[in-house]
Amino acid sequence: MNRLNPAVKPPLWLLAELTYRCPLQCPYCSNPLDFAKQEKELTTAQWIKVFEEAREMGAVQIGFSGGEPLVRKDLPELIRAARDLGFYTNLITSGIGLNEKKIDAFADAGLDHIQISFQASDETLNAALAGNAKAFRQKLDMAKAVKAHGYPMVLNFVLHRHNIDQIDKIIDLSIELEADDVELATCQFYGWAQLNREGLLPTRDQIARAENVVHQYREKMAGTGNLANLLFVTPDYYEERPKGCMGGWGAIFLSVTPEGMALPCHSARQLPVEFPSVLNNTLQEIWYDSFGFNKYRGFDWMPEPCRSCSEKEKDFGGCRCQAFMLTGNADNADPVCSKSEHHGQILAAREQANCTNIQINQLQFRNRANSQLIFKG
Ligand code: FES
Repeated sequence: MNRLNPAVKPPLWLLAELTYRCPLQCPYCSNPLDFAKQEKELTTAQWIKVFEEAREMGAVQIGFSGGEPLVRKDLPELIRAARDLGFYTNLITSGIGLNEKKIDAFADAGLDHIQISFQASDETLNAALAGNAKAFRQKLDMAKAVKAHGYPMVLNFVLHRHNIDQIDKIIDLSIELEADDVELATCQFYGWAQLNREGLLPTRDQIARAENVVHQYREKMAGTGNLANLLFVTPDYYEERPKGCMGGWGAIFLSVTPEGMALPCHSARQLPVEFPSVLNNTLQEIWYDSFGFNKYRGFDWMPEPCRSCSEKEKDFGGCRCQAFMLTGNADNADPVCSKSEHHGQILAAREQANCTNIQINQLQFRNRANSQLIFKG
């Protein structure tokens, strides 16, 4: 029960970021830049307590992510605990570290859903982006194994200026692997992606061409009776209105970091806002009563132009993290909005995308050494 605001509903989605350890080095990773500073991880028992509290409050879906969640040896135990509590369970993985035995163990534990991410449709580009030469072959094998185990096959491709022109090949690969759902999600700029934004943001022409290809494939596939669902997500840098990030701050989504910090979105730890730890508070206290979770609920916190905007109930002023990253103040309207006085930054980024020539090997890869360099300044 919320003592501060009775209008607050319980969370529906729990994202358990089990670890920041990861065998890949994707330069568009949304993990925090200083992830290498966070060495501690919640124990199995501590995670299960989080699941119990979330479920008790009414959460229905859980995502296991990271880093790479497969590096946690207790993953089958965590899946089983979440499933026994009644969660719909999702594993969000690169597929690196997966094998037939683990897929069997996850199936036995009751896992509902596996999403495998790919960097590209061919081995060379995939290796250049992931920083791992063997990753592509392993992903192909595991995608086939996941399908053979009867899971709905969900493939995720993060698109950016270096792979978006191969979108036809990406869709061909997804069809060949018999994917049921294909997420063609253009990179959103948080964490390492924000650091590398100039080298990742596609041009408007690239987006338009890709959208057109997806459209053609949808028509062609419908004609052949292929029901695979192609979901194309454009970057908000080419929108004039912001997204209603996370369905609203502290509205439906709750994320817990490897060491137990509770956040209203995966990116909020960068904000100058104090967020509580599940080690010192119950999830109920955190969700309903903590300062951090109440900070951007409702509309009273909004300055203009959001305060008097007729669309504020739809987009909630956009993304607080993006407002902070681009304007230095998380209270501001998300600069994606053309009404924001900072919208010029978005226009400048679009312009920059037309003339930049940053190559893949010039990007900052997400690895411990680079993270340590960043936080040591
Ligand atoms: Fe944090 Fe949008 S990612 S509010």
